[in-house]
Amino acid sequence: MRSLELVGERGDPAPAVYARLFARHPAMEALFVRDTNGLVRGNMLAEAIGAILDFIDRDAYGGNLMRIEVVNHENLGVPKEVFPAFFTVMRDSFAETLGEAWTTEIDQAWGDLLARIEREVMQS
Ligand code: HEM
Repeated sequence: MRSLELVGERGDPAPAVYARLFARHPAMEALFVRDTNGLVRGNMLAEAIGAILDFIDRDAYGGNLMRIEVVNHENLGVPKEVFPAFFTVMRDSFAETLGEAWTTEIDQAWGDLLARIEREVMQS
């Protein structure tokens, strides 16, 4: 939560996150062809952050949303194994943005989160 607050203080994280996503998974960029103004990209990032915040709290809907979106995204052309890469890309992009402010504690928490998503969302 702290890392997300800090990232939020540094402006819109979307351009850096998507630049990193498309550098790592070039084939994914074309899927956003209809998103001419970046609104869908911005909304997707906001939804992913909302899902994370709920998932690490009570998990009232976060894990379920992620599971549903795996299927929706497969229909869009996002392979199941690529889907969680978005969360990894978020972590790496936020770490770069925060630099010195990215602490060992934050890194550990993100490592735990990514492992939990892999275990509880992707294996189900
Ligand atoms: C590499 C991974 C991912 C790729 C390539 C991807 C790609 C896309 C694309 C192309 C769209 C637009 C669909 C359209 O044109 O209607 C979209 C929408 C969306 N994605 Fe993703 N996605 C990824 C991961 C995720 C993750 C992890 C979440 C979070 C749970 C998520 C949540 C959403 C949501 C909520 C929308 C709808 C946004 C809106 O229409 O306003 N996506 N995604």
